[in-house]
Amino acid sequence: MLRDFIMTAFFLSGAIVQAQDLPKSVSIIPQPVEIISSSGAFDLRTNTSISFSSKEVLPSAVYLSDYLGRYLGYPLAVKREKVTPKQTIRLINQKNGQISGGYRLEVTPDGITINGNDDAGVFYGVQTLIQLLPIRAGIMPVVPALTVRDYPRFAYRGMHLDVVRHFFPVSFIKQYIDYLALHKMNYFHWHLTDDQGWRIQMKCRPELTEVGSYREGEIEGLYPGVYTPLPYGGYYTHEHVKEIVAYAAERYITVIPEIDIPGHCMAVLATYPQFSTTPDEAKKCALTWGIFNKENNVLAPTPEVFEFLKDVFSEICDLFPASYIHVGGDECAKRWWQASDQTQRFMKEQGLKDEKALQSYFIHYVQQVVNAKGKTLIGWDEILEGGISPDCIVMNWRTTPHAVKAIKTGHRVIMTPSAYTYLNIKESRSQSELAFPGLLPLEKVYKFDVIPDSLTVAEASQVWGGQGCLWTEYVSTPWKAEYCLFPRLSALAENLWSAPECKSWERFVQKMEQQYQRYDLWGARYSEAFFRVQDILRKR
Ligand code: ACM
Repeated sequence: MLRDFIMTAFFLSGAIVQAQDLPKSVSIIPQPVEIISSSGAFDLRTNTSISFSSKEVLPSAVYLSDYLGRYLGYPLAVKREKVTPKQTIRLINQKNGQISGGYRLEVTPDGITINGNDDAGVFYGVQTLIQLLPIRAGIMPVVPALTVRDYPRFAYRGMHLDVVRHFFPVSFIKQYIDYLALHKMNYFHWHLTDDQGWRIQMKCRPELTEVGSYREGEIEGLYPGVYTPLPYGGYYTHEHVKEIVAYAAERYITVIPEIDIPGHCMAVLATYPQFSTTPDEAKKCALTWGIFNKENNVLAPTPEVFEFLKDVFSEICDLFPASYIHVGGDECAKRWWQASDQTQRFMKEQGLKDEKALQSYFIHYVQQVVNAKGKTLIGWDEILEGGISPDCIVMNWRTTPHAVKAIKTGHRVIMTPSAYTYLNIKESRSQSELAFPGLLPLEKVYKFDVIPDSLTVAEASQVWGGQGCLWTEYVSTPWKAEYCLFPRLSALAENLWSAPECKSWERFVQKMEQQYQRYDLWGARYSEAFFRVQDILRKR
């Protein structure tokens, strides 16, 4: 936390230097703090090795060797070496207590050295080095001599994925995490439950996946959608979760699970209709998109429901090593509580003045469960509506005034305003694929100002970072998810990593020419709207 404040204060002091006279081949996304070019170059050969200073740095060394082997055709040997000969890429964790994720990368004709402030810094230095290499396989690279000094603007750089509306296999979740790592992102927000399905094994309640992970049909078309009666579903076991969490950790990415309550709960109510305000009616996982449909009930405040929440959130806290758990808390249809005598009685007994206060009661209850496990609660910005304790982190998905309210009431905030960061929104009007209405072009993502300008310096330091979201109502396959991500993930990453003084839209557009070749190298699908942006810029 203290580091976050220091980081923001440093940036606000304006102590940023930008590089001049770089070789054209130097195209790093996100833009580093400083790049200084020098004379000469380092020739990588097949006998070049990767050395590491301590065992904590080994995953970065292995990652680099794997990347070189997989994409460029020359895996290099990884060695622990005390005395480093020439022809070595040296990875060193300086453990110097400076900004987490910061690093210094030095390329000289004799070798390459990456000094990280910590392990994550070494890993980000490796990501930068990867971007200095040629993009085509088979050529042994010549890396221009230079020094990069770099550190992130924000400590939280996240990307979300909804695996409920459509389910994605473990292999794609890993691929998604790889894409985040290649962009120096460090949080993966995994949206695991919603009206259309429950996607995580619960050993305390096995019925949740037996019943709640399947819906009767594939839902097709724009909201509200129609369904084809063909069972659709899937879920992740504890073993899958452990595999994914470990994979992410090797890439310095923390996985934050989201269990969305007290609305967005039809998969729970399909399993336990008695947990709703209409306990006698059988229920199904939602068969349309949208939350405020007449069928979509919410959790009722009963002892059984609170017992359920305690069991589920305790198991989630034990399964995920992250210090943060996401409770959802968005878009709860309060009319169900208004129409329920039993709920109204509960509110009276507890002295809750309205349904917003009841929503807070639910969130506060889960917060206590999560806090007892030593973890911190995150929720969408609706959790503020009935008041919530200051140590909850607010994820702002609506407009700036909601974020400002959260900040002014003492909360840390993650900025993910839908108008700028929901990558499921169409990127270009000419895209024919089904997508969320609206328009979110690359330039709009790039120019999104993460810190609202009405904030004081002290208030700005409460902005922990930002996040992109990918809701998957209209994203039914991995390739379409990639199509939504790219190229906008690259803009988002630069927004979250690079200080405003280091950013330039014109330079970003130039850098994207190489970035598209990297997408090709990774086999990632992308939207071509960018090429139209380029045409427009050329004509100016
Ligand atoms: C949200 O988009 N309902 C968080």
